[in-house]
Amino acid sequence: MGKILMLGSNGQIGTVLAGALRMKYGRDQIICSDIRQPISPEGIFLKLDVLDKDSIAKVIDDHGVDQIYHLAAILSASGEKNPLLTWQINMQGLLNVLELGVEKKIKKIFFPSSIAIYGPSTPKVRTPQFGSFMPTTVYGISKITGEMWCEYYHKRFGLDVRSIRYPGVIGWQSLPEGGTTDYAVEIFHGALKSKSYNCFLKENTRLPMIYMDDVIRATIELMEADGKRLRLRSGYNLVGMSFTPKEIAEEIKKHIPDFKIEYNPDFRQNIAESWTESINDQEAKDDWDWKPQYDLAAMTSDMLKMLKDKV
Ligand code: SER
Repeated sequence: MGKILMLGSNGQIGTVLAGALRMKYGRDQIICSDIRQPISPEGIFLKLDVLDKDSIAKVIDDHGVDQIYHLAAILSASGEKNPLLTWQINMQGLLNVLELGVEKKIKKIFFPSSIAIYGPSTPKVRTPQFGSFMPTTVYGISKITGEMWCEYYHKRFGLDVRSIRYPGVIGWQSLPEGGTTDYAVEIFHGALKSKSYNCFLKENTRLPMIYMDDVIRATIELMEADGKRLRLRSGYNLVGMSFTPKEIAEEIKKHIPDFKIEYNPDFRQNIAESWTESINDQEAKDDWDWKPQYDLAAMTSDMLKMLKDKV
C-alpha cells in the first residue's frame, strides 16, 4: 500500500481523522500537512500550502503517496470576510489536487463537501440529493463547484474521487474554526466551564449535524467502499441528527440542570437560515451502507463525558 497524504490536517476533522487513519493503516503510512506547524504534531508532519502544486508533487514522489485526503478549506463564516482569498484557496487548492491526481496516478482522493452548498431555493426539510443548489456564501459556492469538478475528473479521466456533504460536525477532540455550526461545539465548552453559553444563532434555527465518531466512520467507510457501487462522485448527502440551539440546550440541562443559554444572533444567522434543516441521505445508505449511530441524546452524553477532563 502507498502512503496517504492529508492536506489541511490541523483542522477540526483532520486532527481526528489523521489519528483514526494512523490506527487503521499504521503510523508511518499517513503524512499530515497543513500551512502551519501543529502545536503538538503526532506522526509524520510536513508544512504544505495547497496553492503550491510543485511542493505537493514533490511530497507525492518522495513518499510514494497514492491516496489524498484534501481537507484544506476556509469555512463559511471566515470565508465571508475574504471572499476572493477563500475562492482561491478552496478552488485552486482542489484543482491542484485533481490535476496531481491525474498526473501522478493517485488511486483515491477524498474531498469534503458541505451543507453550505444548499441555498434559499433548496427544499429545507429532508433535503434530497439532487435539487436547486444556489448557495449564498463563497464557501458554499466553492463546495458545489468543487463537487462538479470532482464529478468531471471522474468522468473525463477516471479519477477515483469520493466526497461527502458534511453537516455541522460535533466533537470533543478538536475545535472548529470559522464555521456557522461551530456553536454546537462551543456550547459544550461553555456548559462545562461556566454553565452558560451566549449563542450567535436564534433559538429555533434548525440545522443538520453529526457526531465526530460517525463522521470518521462514514469517511473511512466511503473510502473503502467498492467503487463500482458508488453512483455519485459529487458529494453524498449525509446526516446524523438535526436540532435547534434551544433543543441542544434542553438536552444539556438534563445533565447540568442550572445551564443557562442566551441568544445574541450575529451575521452567521443569515448563513444558517440559507441552509436546510434536515437531510435525506438515502443514496449514502443505498450505495455504501451508511448508518449513523449517534442521535442528540447519545451525542450530548458522550460529549459531556469526554470533554469533562479536557475542560
Ligand atoms: N461546519 C461548516 C460551517 O459551518 C459547514 O460545512 O461552515
